[in-house]
Amino acid sequence: MNEKSLVVVTGAARGIGEATVRKFASMGHSVAALDVNRERGEALASELQTAGQQVVFHACDVADADAVDDLAARVQRDLGSPSVLVTSAALIPNTESIMEMDLGAHDRMWRVNYHGTVHACRSFGRQMVAAGRGGSIVTLGSINSVLPMPLPAYNPGKAAIARLTQLLAAELGRHHIRVNSVGPTYVMTPELQARIDSGQRDLAKMMKVHALDILPTPADVAEAIAFLSSPAARAITGILMPVDSGWTASATYMTYSGGVPWESDTGSPTARFQADINHKQIDIHSERENTMIIEMRVYECAPGRLPALQERFAKHTLGFFKKYGIEPVGFWTTVVGRNNHELTYLLKWKDMADREAKWNAFQADPEWIARRTESEAEKPIVARVENQFLAPAAFFPGLAP
Ligand SMILES: NC(=O)c1ccc[n+]([C@@H]2O[C@H](COP(=O)([O-])OP(=O)(O)OC[C@H]3O[C@@H](n4cnc5c(N)ncnc54)[C@H](O)[C@@H]3O)[C@@H](O)[C@H]2O)c1
Repeated sequence: MNEKSLVVVTGAARGIGEATVRKFASMGHSVAALDVNRERGEALASELQTAGQQVVFHACDVADADAVDDLAARVQRDLGSPSVLVTSAALIPNTESIMEMDLGAHDRMWRVNYHGTVHACRSFGRQMVAAGRGGSIVTLGSINSVLPMPLPAYNPGKAAIARLTQLLAAELGRHHIRVNSVGPTYVMTPELQARIDSGQRDLAKMMKVHALDILPTPADVAEAIAFLSSPAARAITGILMPVDSGWTASATYMTYSGGVPWESDTGSPTARFQADINHKQIDIHSERENTMIIEMRVYECAPGRLPALQERFAKHTLGFFKKYGIEPVGFWTTVVGRNNHELTYLLKWKDMADREAKWNAFQADPEWIARRTESEAEKPIVARVENQFLAPAAFFPGLAP
């Protein structure tokens, strides 16, 4: 991919497609943005054009093979043939049973999600072959490409896209066209946030099966797509790259019938403490407050970045703590100690479930993610985070003897 390559994105008006358009346009590429949603697509193109970027919107239904072919010819006439194609157009389903599902909706989902991917890969892939410059195609897979979920058309469609990606990689490799897929877990889009807010999705349940305590944003997925399309990935083709906060690694692990070591009573001190509470082996109660667990968090900053961290806490973090009912006990910097680039603070939790629900909701808040990303746009702030969960000792003031 050269400095001014053409990038074609389907499903470009929203979500991951939109983030991908923004990413490539900000890198100086011209972008042809395709979507059925004319209103949003045109608004996006005009916003980015006003910012001096080269983005052209075309209304296009990827389920219609002829329409995609015609549009590809038009894009070629106007802008040349692409070096990168990203196929993000899809219909996103709700859970349903195979016995009950509407067959019309089932077929439409296959036509958009799977056939739409085939159509775009054929029409633009042929142009890439003819141009003889090589290129990169990135399809949108999912954690649904890997394991079954109760989404009858969507789930097998994503598995089929993963296989299609391999077939295309094998077929187009000799033309130096690499074909890969990205496999996101639940992406923190405004639509997902709304479903969580309305109770249609259970954030705590989602977070339980991820190794990391964050969900990817559309921008995180766009970064992976840009990497796969860059010269840095020149030897990578035919893969499904998870962008899944460790879902693939840990989904089965977290449901292992023998238990997860750090959640069992033989695991970490935190787990042992929690088990002790559950079994009422220690009698902890405070007349003054209902604090069951204290979490100590130590943020070691990159050199010279402690002021930026303090500013972020004062301006943003504390507001989000309030929003999610997270209760700080206090904040300290180090006067004399191992490192004077550290911020140490304590949080109070009722129990580990309280901590998990509130912390995960905070971490997944798109506005918080945006503020945090902004604050680290120039240089990273936090180099290392350490946390410990503390139980009051038996002689803690206010506890029963
Ligand atoms: N959001 C997630 O949690 C998630 C997770 C894993 C994979 N994915 C995949 O990522 C891709 C993008 O998902 P998203 O969350 O950004 O979805 P989204 O609904 O926000 O965006 C999809 C876009 O595709 C467009 N589109 C729908 N039908 C079309 C058609 N026939 N022709 C052209 N455009 C059409 C829509 O108008 C929309 O702009 C999809 O392939 C999805 O399966 C999403």
